[in-house]
Amino acid sequence: MATATQTTRRDFLYVATGAVGAVGVAFTAWPFIDQMNPTSAVLAMSSMEADIAAIQPGQQVVFKWRGHPLFVRRRTPKEIAEARAVPVSQLIDPLARNANLPDSAPATDANREIKPEWIIVVGVCTHLGCTPTVSTPQSPQGEYGGWLCHCHGSQYDVAGRVRKGPAPQNLAVPPYSFIGPTKIKVG
Ligand code: FES
Repeated sequence: MATATQTTRRDFLYVATGAVGAVGVAFTAWPFIDQMNPTSAVLAMSSMEADIAAIQPGQQVVFKWRGHPLFVRRRTPKEIAEARAVPVSQLIDPLARNANLPDSAPATDANREIKPEWIIVVGVCTHLGCTPTVSTPQSPQGEYGGWLCHCHGSQYDVAGRVRKGPAPQNLAVPPYSFIGPTKIKVG
């Protein structure tokens, strides 16, 4: 029976490697297939916990949460500095879209995360729902260093904020918290 807090290896999907190729054994790639078909009631209440310590700066790991990809990206100091330097006035979507903050919170970089090193967003493009591709130094995607949605060309920065449409909104930040130095609970 499904429980409110589900932490299974099925939640883990794949790693997009950045500059560092080695990742812990816990992050061995798993197929992008989920055999589960939980009821909507289970999906609505489901949460997941994960220890993200093995993710290296510049890497992203994709988990699955409530049927959607969940991007957990560890940012480098350079990426954090770049994201923090962007004025909200330059953004397409000025709202943080952070479930942990009031709806009116502005989309500053600080309002997009709990710890600057970690950006955690739902990996669903806000245009028509495709899964954006992460940008790495080895495989740059778009102009903003974050993610590129290949469906219609939307681009997101390293805070998951939309910088080039047609996507109208920033990638959603889910409800989450740190329950340990590198352990998160989402949902
Ligand atoms: S679904 Fe991403 S740009 Fe259209």
